[in-house]
Amino acid sequence: MTEIKKVAVLGAGTMGFGIAGVCANAGCQVLLLDLEKSASEKAKEKLVAGRSPVISDETVLERISTGSFDADLQKIKDCDWICEVVVENVEIKRELFKKVEAVRGEGSIISTNTSGIPLRDIYQGMPERLQQDIAVTHFFNPVHIMKLVELVPGEKTRPEVISTLADFLGQTLNKGVVYAKDTVNFIGNRIGCMWMLSGLHIAEESMAKDDLTIESIDALMSEPVGLPATGLYGLVDLIGLDVMFNVGKNLETNLPDNDAGRAYTNFTKSVQTIFDRGQLGRKTGGGFYKLTRHDDGSKTMEVFDLQNDQWRAAEKPMLSEKDSSLESLYGGESANARFVTDIMTMTLSYSAELVPEIADDIVNVDRAMRWGFGWKKGPFELIDQIGADRVMETIASKGLPIPRMLNLLKQSDSTSFYRDEGKEYFGTDGEWHPVA
Ligand SMILES: NC(=O)c1ccc[n+]([C@@H]2O[C@H](COP(=O)([O-])OP(=O)(O)OC[C@H]3O[C@@H](n4cnc5c(N)ncnc54)[C@H](O)[C@@H]3O)[C@@H](O)[C@H]2O)c1
Repeated sequence: MTEIKKVAVLGAGTMGFGIAGVCANAGCQVLLLDLEKSASEKAKEKLVAGRSPVISDETVLERISTGSFDADLQKIKDCDWICEVVVENVEIKRELFKKVEAVRGEGSIISTNTSGIPLRDIYQGMPERLQQDIAVTHFFNPVHIMKLVELVPGEKTRPEVISTLADFLGQTLNKGVVYAKDTVNFIGNRIGCMWMLSGLHIAEESMAKDDLTIESIDALMSEPVGLPATGLYGLVDLIGLDVMFNVGKNLETNLPDNDAGRAYTNFTKSVQTIFDRGQLGRKTGGGFYKLTRHDDGSKTMEVFDLQNDQWRAAEKPMLSEKDSSLESLYGGESANARFVTDIMTMTLSYSAELVPEIADDIVNVDRAMRWGFGWKKGPFELIDQIGADRVMETIASKGLPIPRMLNLLKQSDSTSFYRDEGKEYFGTDGEWHPVA
């Protein structure tokens, strides 16, 4: 088995600099390249800067050498792993891989950090050797903080490539490896983006019908459900509407024809309006929220009222005891409960339909959402928390078909996806398996 000691990171942007940093921290020699040497130099300097630097021991920087694609690509010839982290553009990635293939050494492993381009679109028509040595290694941002790496083989990828990467990512980099299949957006972004994109639609329907606001929606979509404090709109602000727009376009192109996510690949009219005028999120100084720092050191937070198309002061919503947990909200009569039931039923039933299409088992799906999106519980753990029977009743009451994994559970004599305190999970074969 190849042992990964020398790593080439191709692309020194947000993700490339993080991957270079965690590899150097783990003792690897790292070659960091970008279009210009100055860009990789700057990225290297950034590794020791800020409040939560990727590298805290400056001597680690000595393991990182920098350069440009034009002048230094031949230096990858003695690298064990070559990780491509350039812009999300299939043609640019393919062009780079062609150059990589011409110079890389025999037995080296190559991977792409694409967030959602199917791997086959990157390797199709490429030399056989490349197709056997390539995988997706999908890190999450920020690389040094997020535990998840999704590992995806292509059709011809050698098993040794996957086992070497899994061992390196898990043991050397201390990441949580999830095995995904080569389908659009893999696991985390397929389900996480469905939650966000469908959430933007469902939230606006709820705001139009009921007395809900962006702040109350975010309050519900955080602690009570076990999701991060950013909630729904806060997370979209953090990611940026430009990124979400491209995610929607990629889904539109690559989702299977009958996929439930197809209904949500476009923004709602009001979200499209703020996107069109460049109100993208934190990166443009405001999206759904806007934080203003005043000269006297004080701060004010405003929220964008989508119905009236204007900013107003943000309020801190008070949630009642009944609104404090998913079990008590789910299926309830209040406006808050109806919203939580609608959005979570959509996401949970979508997840239950996608196994085994996107992953071999429910454990990989749950881990992807916990390690990549910071959810306290993954979708199948949430179904167990609510009660699979209650979720199925709600799905049926909405006139929707019972999704694959819930149907399988219904046909068995089990009522939950995990048993024995999470030590065993319910498989796609209807049998119980130990959680690895
Ligand atoms: N940012 C995220 O949250 C995130 C998370 C997971 C995966 N990804 C994926 O990682 C990859 C890199 O994303 P990023 O956020 O680091 O992007 P980025 O824009 O920060 O960096 C991209 C790098 O690509 C280089 N580049 C631009 N045009 C190029 C070209 N024509 N040829 C070669 N290099 C070129 C740029 O100089 C830049 O350093 C993408 O595939 C993205 O989808 C991003």
